[in-house]
Amino acid sequence: FSHYKEVASEDLKDSYAIVIDLLRATSTMIWAISNGAKRIIPVEKVEEALLFKKLDESVLLGGERGGLKIDGFDLDNSPLSYKSEVVSGRTIVMTTTNGTRALKKAAGAKRIFPGSFINARKTAEYIIKEALCHDIHTISIVCAGTEEKFTLEDILCAGYFVHLLKKHFPDAFLDDLSIASYELYKKFENDPHEILKYSYHYNNLKKLGFVSDLEFCLKKDFVDMVCEYKNLVVEKV
Ligand code: MLT
Repeated sequence: FSHYKEVASEDLKDSYAIVIDLLRATSTMIWAISNGAKRIIPVEKVEEALLFKKLDESVLLGGERGGLKIDGFDLDNSPLSYKSEVVSGRTIVMTTTNGTRALKKAAGAKRIFPGSFINARKTAEYIIKEALCHDIHTISIVCAGTEEKFTLEDILCAGYFVHLLKKHFPDAFLDDLSIASYELYKKFENDPHEILKYSYHYNNLKKLGFVSDLEFCLKKDFVDMVCEYKNLVVEKV
């Protein structure tokens, strides 16, 4: 398994990639799809999203800048805003500071899966099955980070994926970041808040009043569904 913060397309060639922006973009996308959203179209710029709405009034616009809802948008980036009565059957165009960009950065991979604690087990099981079927030998984990910097919450979630994948492939090669993420996850698996309380983005969201999002995004495996980013769209596999 490899594990990148800064990725180039060639690094991911021939691999399946798991992209993690635990707080909160990938958790929010997965929850929206799990609540019945038809698809999510991640875009990098606010103007792109607004253009989508101009062309098709039925799309919902979601995302954040500075952690908060963008002017003219329907939804912020809190997973708890993406209730089934709001998102069911809808196409959501999303732009966030780091998460949507990380998905695009992973473009060189053979297949791309948004990942989060909330559906990690199901995603890992699916990837293992598909990798074995299609003779894929590398699984990459791409962490979105925050403002181009390493963030602890993504690394903890990456460590959980390493833990799940390692169980099936005990002899697989792990690069140093994968080993570090695994060890960190193991140390804090029962209480991730214990380490995250020192971290930047976790505290930032707390200050903005999103304490329930922190609890939500750190809960494991209550979503039994896998999402894939394919042809510029996130959908259920
Ligand atoms: C991002 O993509 O930058 C994050 O999801 C920001 C946030 O937590 O709202």
